[in-house]
Amino acid sequence: MKIKDLSFKKFIAKSKVQQKVALLAEQINADYADKSPIFLPILNGSFMFASDLIKQITLPSKISFVKVSSYAGTTSSGQLKTLIGLEESLFNQHIVIIEDIIDTGLTLQKIVEELQGLGAKSVEVAALLRKQPAREKMIEVKYVGFEIDNEFVVGYGLDYDGLGRNLEDIYQSIV
Ligand code: IMP
Repeated sequence: MKIKDLSFKKFIAKSKVQQKVALLAEQINADYADKSPIFLPILNGSFMFASDLIKQITLPSKISFVKVSSYAGTTSSGQLKTLIGLEESLFNQHIVIIEDIIDTGLTLQKIVEELQGLGAKSVEVAALLRKQPAREKMIEVKYVGFEIDNEFVVGYGLDYDGLGRNLEDIYQSIV
């Protein structure tokens, strides 16, 4: 399959994705059995994963879709990232961030810091995919679907230049 200049081959079939999502939902249902968490899907990439996952959550729970916006900052790290679209008060709440993929982990690190600053009681992360660099950084992600190498992937919400989000399977780029 080709998207723009890149060629892709099937990597994780939709049936495998669905099996894994069911497993993650089961774990979350068990871990939060006596709680009422707020799910925070990070748009756009997590929309399919979040939808499939949350459908299988049996807890009383809220969902607040958010985006990460980047803007040029004046700190030494260069780019600041901030959450936009938060409508719920997160003070004293149990938060489960839903991410599509963690690459360097920088995006996630900023989000977790921001949520802790808002007084969340707990912050955990559910990510469909995690790449090698994030593993090396030891950023804590409680629920991980698939550990992958440093390959570029599309499908199931993930895009290449805006394309490919609609695919049900996950594809990896080939050189
Ligand atoms: P990080 O801050 O380096 O962890 O970047 C994470 C974000 O980069 C994800 O939420 C995706 O939007 C994007 N991303 C990273 N790797 C891929 C990929 O292989 N395919 C599509 N998007 C990716």
